[in-house]
This record gives sequence, structure tokens and C-alpha cells, in this order.
Amino acid sequence: MRIGETQPIREVFSLISSPTSKKTKPNTSKSKTIITKQQLWNLFCNDFFKIHGKVITQNEDAIENLKVLFYYFLEDSDFFKSKNLIKHLNEPTFNKGLIIIGGVGIGKTAYLKCFENIFHRFSSLRFKGYSAKHLVREFEKCTSPLDKDLFYNEIDRKRIFIDDIGSEKDASNYGIINLIGEIISDRYDKNQKTFLTTNFINANHNVEDTLQALGKRYGHRNYDRLFEMCNIIVFTGQSMRK
Ligand SMILES: Nc1ncnc2c1ncn2[C@@H]1O[C@H](COP(=O)(O)OP(=O)(O)OP(=O)(O)O)[C@@H](O)[C@H]1O
Ligand SMILES: [Mg+2]
Repeated sequence: MRIGETQPIREVFSLISSPTSKKTKPNTSKSKTIITKQQLWNLFCNDFFKIHGKVITQNEDAIENLKVLFYYFLEDSDFFKSKNLIKHLNEPTFNKGLIIIGGVGIGKTAYLKCFENIFHRFSSLRFKGYSAKHLVREFEKCTSPLDKDLFYNEIDRKRIFIDDIGSEKDASNYGIINLIGEIISDRYDKNQKTFLTTNFINANHNVEDTLQALGKRYGHRNYDRLFEMCNIIVFTGQSMRK
């Protein structure tokens, strides 16, 4: 296969053709009608190459990490059967956003950037991405109430992605503010979808510990809200940084 060439979707979605899969089940989701799985995969391979300058690796972990995202964005009911979806801590639904928890270097940022790029062309899936650190830096640059209004207007979108939450410091701007906590709380009140990524808090790779650490960071009320706002996804695998 040539560099940048799209790859057969069966490599990623081989399970779809397994006997246990209900291929014939009707899918009434609106995203399904906008773009098929194969089309999305072709775009994803192309965009991954364009953005990251390499062909996407399809090892077992990467495939599972990608599948859960594809199923989610395509509103394919196989999402609910995904190994990487945590089902015992809250109730998964397509109405919720995502919190993706994983180790370092396994594609959390890279994949969401690709989806952001692709979905720019589809208004019902479109989202804008920011890193938590970038948001803090931008907020700290605000020197007037108008600047702060502009800042909040910028992120007042139906869907946003905040990368690497928990890694940022509190924002300092005439007082210390727990900016990401405030943004989460605002978005909860407005019923806006949020996609979040975060790293495991410790080497045990424990989801509950990681969520509790976020709870400590962003406050108990936001901790509680996260369960109502986000499907909990775990990414597995080793760092792909070379
Ligand atoms: N499936 C993949 N195939 C090829 N390269 C990949 C794949 N997934 C990730 N990478 C590459 O691995 C590197 C790390 O990916 P990324 O930055 O997305 O990790 P991350 O999970 O966000 O890590 P961190 O927690 O440190 O932010 C990047 O160079 C990315 O392009
Ligand atoms: Mg990252």
C-alpha cells in the first residue's frame, strides 16, 4: 500500500462481519445518513496522513480505540457493545459527550484532531477543539470584561473538544479561577456536548481513581455532572511516540 492511501475498512471493523454482529439492524441515526462508515474511514486515513504525516497504525489496541469513536460519531448501536466503553459507572447514550481516559501517546489528541477536521464539513457533527492549557493561556490574556466575553463566546458552541484536562494550571487573572471546572459547569447548564480527554492519574490505569482526581480538581458538583455529560471511554495500548 502506498503512503497515505486509504485502507480497507475491514481491517478496522472486522468484527462487524462476525456472526454475532447484527448487520441488518436498521440504523435510524441522522449521522449514519450523512456519512457511511467506509466514507468516514477513508476520510480518516487521508486526514490522519495529512495532519500527522504518517500512515495510521492498526494494531489491536488502536483498532479498539478507533472503533469506539467511529461507532459513537456514527451513532451505530455497536457503540454500546464496545470493549472500551465503561458501562458500570453511568448510562451510555449518544446524547452525552465523551470523556476519553488513557495513557500517554496512544492517539487521544491525534484522533480527535482528525475527527475535528473531517466533521468541519458536516454541521451536525462539527466541533471545535482546544487544549485545556491553551484555554487557560487565552483566558489569562483577557485584560477587560469585553475580552472575557469574547473568550466565553468563542467556546459557546454546541460541541467542543477540550484536550488534556487536568494537566492545566488554574487560570490567574485578577484572582485564581478554576477555568476548566467553570467551563464544564456552564456547558452542563446549557446542555452542550463536550468531548474531553485526560490521562490516567496513576500507573494503575484505574478509571475510578482518575475520575475522582478530576473531581478533586474541578469540585464535587462537576465530578457528578461529568457522569451525566459524558460517556466514559478508555483507550488502551502503548505509546506510539517514536
Ligand atoms: N494509530 C496510530 N498510528 C500512527 N501513529 C499514531 C497512532 N496513534 C497515535 N499516533 C501518534 O503517536 C503520537 C502520540 O499521539 P497523541 O499525541 O495523540 O497521544 P495522546 O494520547 O494524546 O498522548 P498524551 O497523553 O501524551 O497527550 C503522535 O505522533 C501520533 O501521531
Ligand atoms: Mg494528547
